Amino acid sequence: MERREKWINRETWGIIAVVAMGLTVSACGEAKPPAPPPPAPPEYADKHMPEGYWNNPEILEQGKAIFTGEENIDVNCASCHGKDGKPVKAGARDFRQGEHMKLFSDSQWFWRVSEGVKGTKMKAWKSKLPEEDRWKVIAYEATFGLKGMEYSVAQKKWVPQGTAAAPAASGGAGSEAPAEPPVDGEPAGKGTSEETPQ
Ligand code: HEC
Repeated sequence: MERREKWINRETWGIIAVVAMGLTVSACGEAKPPAPPPPAPPEYADKHMPEGYWNNPEILEQGKAIFTGEENIDVNCASCHGKDGKPVKAGARDFRQGEHMKLFSDSQWFWRVSEGVKGTKMKAWKSKLPEEDRWKVIAYEATFGLKGMEYSVAQKKWVPQGTAAAPAASGGAGSEAPAEPPVDGEPAGKGTSEETPQ
């Protein structure tokens, strides 16, 4: 008799422990910051915002007309993403959250808008929007959460408008000129280690 009660007790504790663990895990899951999107596939990795688009009022005006469906009623981004970037359909991302939007590069946005996101309401727009229009709408979309910013391909991050291009910008992607001159007298590759004997 006595023995049996003890076993029940132990079992009860076991259940409590499992439930507590479950609660802890789900609480952690909720606190997690949004994961960055997967890298753009090769055919999109080298696509970048045309020069001068980010802060061009005319481009942004055209981007807005596309976004709101004014240009073409079949392309109405605002019907899900909201006129001001605040989502009106479940699952759409809140474009006003800069911290979140920053996780995307210009290529990743372009890829998503071109091909859509499988398994969600976001469809591919490449058949309805020529490349230029896709860039225009993306430049406009960036104004919700990243106003005054542009994506720097060289620095691989969002920076204030006008600071993205390095001095030798027109060389195009791939040219890797060093930004700073090497430190005098230190041969490259040796520098940092303190523990060199003798
Ligand atoms: C029918 C609703 C709907 C329409 C219309 C729509 N989207 Fe989306 N969009 C979504 C949803 C839902 C997601 C989130 C997909 C996901 O879970 O990643 C999304 C994702 C995105 C993303 C990437 C962010 C992300 O979450 O991956 C961009 C950029 C985007 N949409 C831009 C646009 C643009 C530009 C248009 C108009 C040309 C447009 N969307 C039209 C529903 C829509």
